[in-house]
Amino acid sequence: MKKIRIGAIGACSAIFGNVHGDGIINNPDKFELVALCDLNTEKLEKFAERFHVAQTYEDYREMIAKANLDAVVNATPTSSHAVTTIDCLNAGLHVICEKPISMTIEEADAMIDAAKKNNRILQIAVQSRHCDAWKKIRELIRGGRIGTPHTITITQFWDDPYVYNNWRTSAEISGGGIVADSCIHWIDMMRNLMGEITGVFGVGTPSPDSPMPHIEDSSLTLFRFQSGAIGCLRNGWRNVRWPNCNENVEINGTVGTIIGNLMNPWVRKDPQIVELFTVGGNPVGKEVFEFMTSRDRFTAQMADFAECVNGNRLVTCTAEDARRGLQIQQAIYDSYKTKQWQEI
Ligand SMILES: NC(=O)c1ccc[n+]([C@@H]2O[C@H](COP(=O)([O-])OP(=O)(O)OC[C@H]3O[C@@H](n4cnc5c(N)ncnc54)[C@H](O)[C@@H]3O)[C@@H](O)[C@H]2O)c1
Repeated sequence: MKKIRIGAIGACSAIFGNVHGDGIINNPDKFELVALCDLNTEKLEKFAERFHVAQTYEDYREMIAKANLDAVVNATPTSSHAVTTIDCLNAGLHVICEKPISMTIEEADAMIDAAKKNNRILQIAVQSRHCDAWKKIRELIRGGRIGTPHTITITQFWDDPYVYNNWRTSAEISGGGIVADSCIHWIDMMRNLMGEITGVFGVGTPSPDSPMPHIEDSSLTLFRFQSGAIGCLRNGWRNVRWPNCNENVEINGTVGTIIGNLMNPWVRKDPQIVELFTVGGNPVGKEVFEFMTSRDRFTAQMADFAECVNGNRLVTCTAEDARRGLQIQQAIYDSYKTKQWQEI
């Protein structure tokens, strides 16, 4: 099969440098990384050398016009997602765009329209959907192993000072604080595992020693699902990580419970563990599943994008999913302000 000629906008971003570049390189049968674009021309030369890419551009419009691409990775900050993505789609390119989809619902709608009008793939990058351990959890739920799921708690804690030193803490570029930046992943995962979210109530706050006290870096959100289930999401940028703390889930159902500690190989060498406890035995039944593929989710995500571009698969996280995620994100911020549940 012909390789997809791919370029990157925001190529010098942390996300492209840490994972998307390798996600492309690790799929050599699917992609040819042809061109990199970034406003930071100094860094751009170093990235071009590292990824063995001959063409570099400061202006993405020039890249679109000259590089003869089939697709792009859009790894620019959130406020640039809509304009850059729409220009690429209108130029006939497929796009995998970073989360959150955009700043506003209107922008998301314009992106969705441009993808439809041009018959191009628009996929949003939420890599946990491509993670073996998360996929196992979904399979266990769908397979009825815990009966009817009725509660879910997801926790993600970070202690990385990096997040405070860039545009993430400027709501006019990022769309908010930790909810726009990090919770958005877990809003998507909640929907993916438990079905549609119909109501939210959130509280968020800057931690007492936050270097950026104008935004929330800690948040707690409660969810109500269409199924009648309820959920809780805990996020922090300023938590001391205890072992296994930084990507955890517990799901309770009528006949079982799933407990997952999922990001270990990123942080430590231990495997990701998914435990399934079921009633009916004494002691209760227990199965343990181990994975060492935490970081591989990015390579799997790019492979999935290639399959979608080649027409072999439907998009995993669609732009419509991401639009709904943005709606829920905005409802969480509304509940901060109103101190009320928000029906969505
Ligand atoms: N999926 C994840 O887990 C994850 C993790 C981190 C970041 N992200 C997302 O990735 C995106 C980038 O985040 P980051 O922290 O890596 O950003 P970053 O600040 O490290 O890099 C952004 C880059 O984009 C470039 N840029 C900005 N506007 C541009 C334009 N118009 N044309 C070309 N280049 C432009 C900047 O020069 C910079 O090099 C954001 O949408 C963020 O939400 C996702």
